[in-house]
Amino acid sequence: MGSKLQDFLESQVYPSQIWQSVIRHGKPVNDRNRSLAVLGNVFLHLHPIRLPRYATKYTYTWGMGGLSFLLFLVETVTGILLMFYYHPTASLAYGDIKSLEFDVPFGMILRNMHRWGAHAMVLAVWFHMFRVFMTGSYKKPREFNWAIGVILLTITLFMSFTGYLLPWDQLAMWAITVGTNMARAVPLLGHEGPFSNLLGLKIDNDIRFALLGGTRVGGPTLIRFYVLHCIAVPFVMSFILSIHFWRIRKDGGISGPQSARLANLNKVTQVKAAEGKKKVEGIKVEAPKAE
Ligand code: HEM
Repeated sequence: MGSKLQDFLESQVYPSQIWQSVIRHGKPVNDRNRSLAVLGNVFLHLHPIRLPRYATKYTYTWGMGGLSFLLFLVETVTGILLMFYYHPTASLAYGDIKSLEFDVPFGMILRNMHRWGAHAMVLAVWFHMFRVFMTGSYKKPREFNWAIGVILLTITLFMSFTGYLLPWDQLAMWAITVGTNMARAVPLLGHEGPFSNLLGLKIDNDIRFALLGGTRVGGPTLIRFYVLHCIAVPFVMSFILSIHFWRIRKDGGISGPQSARLANLNKVTQVKAAEGKKKVEGIKVEAPKAE
């Protein structure tokens, strides 16, 4: 049975144009084909060629960056499923959430996975930032990635904030009322903040007005927060995340404990010194010939 399948694959499938256009290398039985297999596959290609042992230790990374990303994926999948049952309009939103909880099979668990996943993601990102700080991984050459991380933290918090309004209950309305009221006082952008006169800001043209789509929380706010939460911010976040991951590779992978790096550096220095000594010993110093 196994060999029949093997024969079929080898005679019909592997030589076919469809197969050849996707898999462009032979069987990974030698080094060349194995490297072609990695280079030709986007997911394998994303992984670094080699990893230092300490980078795989949970005691060093706490796995918090990976956990943050896993939670981002959980939020994406559960969020898409939630969108099937939700209308972002003032008349329907609240009822949709209630019917999701009480009518839709597994609706309650779906909603709670999304909600608890969001809380967990905020925690994981904070812990990740804390570990990066404690291991000094924000230092050269990773300063730029630290700055990218700060943007990711802000975006994570903004995702939580925009999602908060969507259940359209009392908690949501008043939380967003309080939150957006703070935007009044933002320097330069809020109409009650310092320097607001430079841009001629008033209650109906400042950053709070732009967020609310009016001067108070209402239907226009709901659709704005929905579009921000489900499309705009996740889109920006995916883009910034790809820069974050790309930078980790370009900065030489996960940072190492200083001792390991120093030990390595010492080894290199010792080898170089030993080589230098050999060279010096190899040179025959001849006495100058008398003329
Ligand atoms: C959505 C949020 C974030 C995700 C999904 C994420 C993901 C990751 C992952 C998977 C790593 C690999 C190492 C590890 O797991 O620790 C990493 C490394 C790193 N992250 Fe993040 N990160 C996020 C937010 C942040 C924040 C808030 C900061 C700091 C402000 C930050 C700064 C860094 C730095 C500097 C590294 C390199 C660390 C090293 O080389 O040891 N990241 N990130």
